[in-house]
Amino acid sequence: MDQYERLHYLKEKTNLSNEDIDIIRNPTALWNYADANRMVENAIGMIMLPLGIATNFIINGKKYIIPMAIEEPSVIAAASKAAKIAKASGGFIAEADESLMIGQVQLVSLPISKQVAKEKILVSKDQLLQIANSRSRSITARDLEVRELHDKSQNSMGEMLLIELTIDTQDAMGANIINTMCESVAPRLEEITGGKVVLKILSNYATRRLVRCKATFQKNQLGGEQIVERILYAYALAYSDVYRAVTHNKGIMNGIDAVALATGQDFRAIEAGAHAFASKDGTYRSLTKWRKTKEGDLEGEIELPMAVGIVGGIASIHPMVKLALKILGVKSSQELAMTLAAMGLAQNLAALRALASEGIQSGHMKFHARNIAIMAGAKGNLVDIVAKRIADESNVTINRAKEVLALLKGVNDNEKRSL
Ligand code: MEV
Repeated sequence: MDQYERLHYLKEKTNLSNEDIDIIRNPTALWNYADANRMVENAIGMIMLPLGIATNFIINGKKYIIPMAIEEPSVIAAASKAAKIAKASGGFIAEADESLMIGQVQLVSLPISKQVAKEKILVSKDQLLQIANSRSRSITARDLEVRELHDKSQNSMGEMLLIELTIDTQDAMGANIINTMCESVAPRLEEITGGKVVLKILSNYATRRLVRCKATFQKNQLGGEQIVERILYAYALAYSDVYRAVTHNKGIMNGIDAVALATGQDFRAIEAGAHAFASKDGTYRSLTKWRKTKEGDLEGEIELPMAVGIVGGIASIHPMVKLALKILGVKSSQELAMTLAAMGLAQNLAALRALASEGIQSGHMKFHARNIAIMAGAKGNLVDIVAKRIADESNVTINRAKEVLALLKGVNDNEKRSL
């Protein structure tokens, strides 16, 4: 399919308008240097990434076309393939917690004991929540808890209290309002306790905003019993060895980050939370779990924190991000979180299946060869011809691509001369 056919397919499957399609074809008409310059400091331009769509996803019975912004070849195809396999068993089943985020206020230099300060704060809990809630009409600070902490760093900064607000950010990721609420209660906390507030900031470890997703992949669709067995060996390694676990989880984040980027999420926050969650039992492990069902099929599940939003931030202003969200068709931040989790699980299955069978290089090499052909100077249809030749020869190098190109050009020149 070429771009025109893909956009036609998209238009048929989603409620994109002709104007939306025009924006996808020519995004800089609506989003350009002036916008970039308003967003960040010292802007000099913009970087473009490929935007693709993953197909075949069914999550909780609903069909999704999932936009992905990523430079790495194979990721989109792999996710679509894994989703197709899951589809044969009904697709992905997912659930997401409410949008509960944690905001932290650090209180130090207490002139009274930590215990007394804690009691005083808890007595004023309703008043503190009222102060926080005066900052927003729609977002609510639901609870306030106090934790006692002792500095364990080499600087021995002593005793401190951590006041944690639980904030329901609903369909927003919520970073700004959480920080505002934390800042709003700080002066009152100092008055109540006589201590000094240092940090007032959200936690990106969103453990009250988890998402879970599972799916079954039938053995015959995966390539047989042996592949299932080999995938379980691969999972055993990711569960038991941190060097493998990091790569295993990197593959999961290939999918999650690509969707996060397309839909305008803070992917650094998702990454930070995911990796902390992978270490929640003290050892860094796989974010997914895999097992064999009694029928011999493969069942996988994923669980991770997912602080995402469909309102606020760039999601409300960037034309391509708005379109990506429209393509995805999610109605809430929880629904977005579930698509991200399904994508992570799909991506992991695809990587494990490739690694447990033919390896990932054959797929990667086809795309890599195209890049090498372009770097060697190939243009137009010569890109594919050169790429195929060097990939078939397993000699994907610029030198070989240049030789093949010269050969092909020579053939073309001869053809031209004989006309
Ligand atoms: C490559 O970007 C991702 C993989 O390395 C993930 C994995 O090894 O599971 C293929």
